Amino acid sequence: MKIGIIVGTRPEIIKMAPVIRECDKRKIDYFIIHSNQHYSKEMDSIFFEELQLPTPHYNLGVGSGLHSNQTGNILIKMEPILLEEKPNVVLVQGDTNTVLAGALAASKLNIKVGHIEAGLRSYDKTMPEETNRIMTDHISEYLFAVGPNQERILKAEGIDSSKIHTVGNTVSDSLFQHLEISAQKSQILSELNLTAGEYFLVTAHRASNVDIASNLLELLNLFEQMHQNYTGTIVWPIHPRTQSKLKEFNIELPRYLQLIPPVGYLDFIQLQKHAKLILTDSGGIQEEACLLGVPSLTLRENTERPEAVEAGASELVGRNADKAVAAAKQWLSKDSYSWVNPFGDGHVAEYILDIIEGKNKPAEITQII
Ligand code: UD1
Ligand code: UDP
Repeated sequence: MKIGIIVGTRPEIIKMAPVIRECDKRKIDYFIIHSNQHYSKEMDSIFFEELQLPTPHYNLGVGSGLHSNQTGNILIKMEPILLEEKPNVVLVQGDTNTVLAGALAASKLNIKVGHIEAGLRSYDKTMPEETNRIMTDHISEYLFAVGPNQERILKAEGIDSSKIHTVGNTVSDSLFQHLEISAQKSQILSELNLTAGEYFLVTAHRASNVDIASNLLELLNLFEQMHQNYTGTIVWPIHPRTQSKLKEFNIELPRYLQLIPPVGYLDFIQLQKHAKLILTDSGGIQEEACLLGVPSLTLRENTERPEAVEAGASELVGRNADKAVAAAKQWLSKDSYSWVNPFGDGHVAEYILDIIEGKNKPAEITQII
């Protein structure tokens, strides 16, 4: 059994890490291809270091670019490697351009594709990730669905149920594996002069929120309203996409927004864990906030992860400042919160590899969740 593991961006590295570790533990023959869609140290190598991952065996060095250019370059550079390595299965995680290109390159060579985090749908085709998810799901042999919602969606799209395995999300493995070490090692709160439970944590990088100047300004107005209604710092580890758009649109930020470069995973876990509220348009952070028991406002009109909202851990507010202020009020008036975690039990990578190695029947796995 030989597995090709494909990564390209920050969340893929974090969510694929447990699978890589489990491959090492089981002494499975595997190789890693990194597209290098993300390449800045704080978006890329810091995660290989912190999560103690092996250096990728192949780095395609594609960098940034327009969608087709980036996807096409990955596709072209991936093919000779897959032809040479001849893996039995290629694993991709999520919905980035790297995922689609990796899955397509493998599928064209009749190599089985395993899609981790299959079946997510925002039903918003203007979102580039939606096309990537749908196409990847429909060329995959193993569809590793997070929960029953995704399983239902995939079946309704006509995907054979024998291909669908409901296992949870590897985000839970990664988070649970790093919670303790993050608490031990991270000094981020004292470095930023923050008091636990007294700051808002913000992240934003969706094209729909940051690529259009008027939308980005709407988002900043939402932060302004939050600041006016609730005291406390707003910490914002800024994604490079958003940083470059602020510069392009010549937008100056007010001083109450504490802008910092993207931080490593161990620091980010602590920032999330001790925030009084998280405001985000990130997929992974919607999940992590929910797993950490911290309420969040989802800065989107729709979400492919309705589970956090259904669990009562998040509210969809888009860029609507009134909605955000009202939703925040509900949470900030409570002393404690609790909800059932819908994002996995921390053993998801084991289930995935059990299925690929043919150790468990899918029906048994479904019972585990
Ligand atoms: C990509 C994914 C998105 C995912 C996000 C995770 C697609 C279509 N988008 O979005 O689904 O949520 O990664 O963070 O695949 N840049 C740097 N350094 C880097 C990477 C990017 O400076 O290491 C800047 C460049 O200006 C680049 C811009 O960020 O043009 C956008 O990068 P890109 O990878 O195209 O999209 P993301 O917004 O990162
Ligand atoms: N993250 C991080 N440092 C940061 C911001 C995010 O380590 O400064 C981690 C976060 O814990 C989560 C992942 O990056 O695991 C989310 O990535 P991102 O928001 O870029 O992508 P998405 O999940 O939206 O695809």
